[in-house]
Amino acid sequence: MIKLKKFDNGFEYLEIINKSASAKIALQGAHIFSFKRDSELLWVSEKSKFENGTAIRGGVPICWPQFGLQKNSELKQHGYARTSLWELVNTKEEEELSIVTLKLKNSKHKHFDYESEVTITFYIGYELKMHLKTKNTDDKPMKITQALHTYFRISNISNISIIGLKNKSYFDTVDAKIKKQNSDISISSEVDRIYQEVDSDIVLQDNDKKIIIKNTNSSSVIVWNPWIEKCHNMKDVKDDAYKNFVCIESANASKDFITLHKDEIHTLITKII
Ligand code: BG6
Repeated sequence: MIKLKKFDNGFEYLEIINKSASAKIALQGAHIFSFKRDSELLWVSEKSKFENGTAIRGGVPICWPQFGLQKNSELKQHGYARTSLWELVNTKEEEELSIVTLKLKNSKHKHFDYESEVTITFYIGYELKMHLKTKNTDDKPMKITQALHTYFRISNISNISIIGLKNKSYFDTVDAKIKKQNSDISISSEVDRIYQEVDSDIVLQDNDKKIIIKNTNSSSVIVWNPWIEKCHNMKDVKDDAYKNFVCIESANASKDFITLHKDEIHTLITKII
C-alpha cells in the first residue's frame, strides 16, 4: 500500500506498507524519515520540524548538488534538494517490495545554473535500497558532490562500532587535518570525518545487532556524530540526542566529486541490509 498523507500543517508524505517493511517519505526533500522492518532503523529528532523550508533532522536527507560547504560556491551547506519539493513519478508494488520514484521539481537554482534531471528510487523491502540518479541535460559540464546522509538509530553511542574503514585515510573536519584510520571506529567525542577511497562494505555493529551498508558508484563515506557541545548548540535536537544516532553517509564528496557532460548519468546507490 502506498498512500499520500499529511501532517496537520499540510506537510505531505508517502506512507508505504508491505509484508517486509514500512516507510515514510516526505515530498519535501524526497526525505525518507522512517524505515521499519523488525524495528525502526532510522533516527529522527523529536524536536525536528516537519515544515516547508526546513530540512527534517534525521532520516536520510539528500545532499545535492553539494555536500557540505564549498569554496567558490554560494550554495548552502548540503545544497537545496533536501528543502525542495519532489514529485512522485512512479510506483510499483509487490507483496514484499514497494518501489517508489520521486523527481526533483526544480533542479535548476540561482546558484546552480544547470538543466538536469534528478530522481531517487526507493526500494522498500526487507532491505532499503536508494538510487539517486543525476542526468546532466545542459550543454555545459556539471560538477556535483552529494550524499545520502543516513541517520542510524542506535541503542547508545557507547555500544556501537563501525567496521570497514580501517586503514582508510580521512579528512577530519573537526581539526581540518588528513589522518589515517588505525582501527575500527568507536565514538567517545565529536566525530566528523570524510573517508576516501572506500571500496568495501561498512558494518554498523550495535551490541548484537548488525547493519550492513553497501555503496555503489561512491568511494567516500562520512561518519558524523556531533557529541555534547554541538548538540547543545543545535536548535532541532535535544541535548542528549548524540547518544541515539550516528550518521554514516554514502557520498561522492571531496576528491570523489562527479563531473557529468551533456546527457551523462551518475547513480549513487546505497543498500542497507
Ligand atoms: C555532516 C557534516 O554531513 O552533516 C557535518 O559532516 C554537519 O559537518 C552535519 O554538521 C549536519 O549538517 P546540517 O546542515 O544538517 O546541520
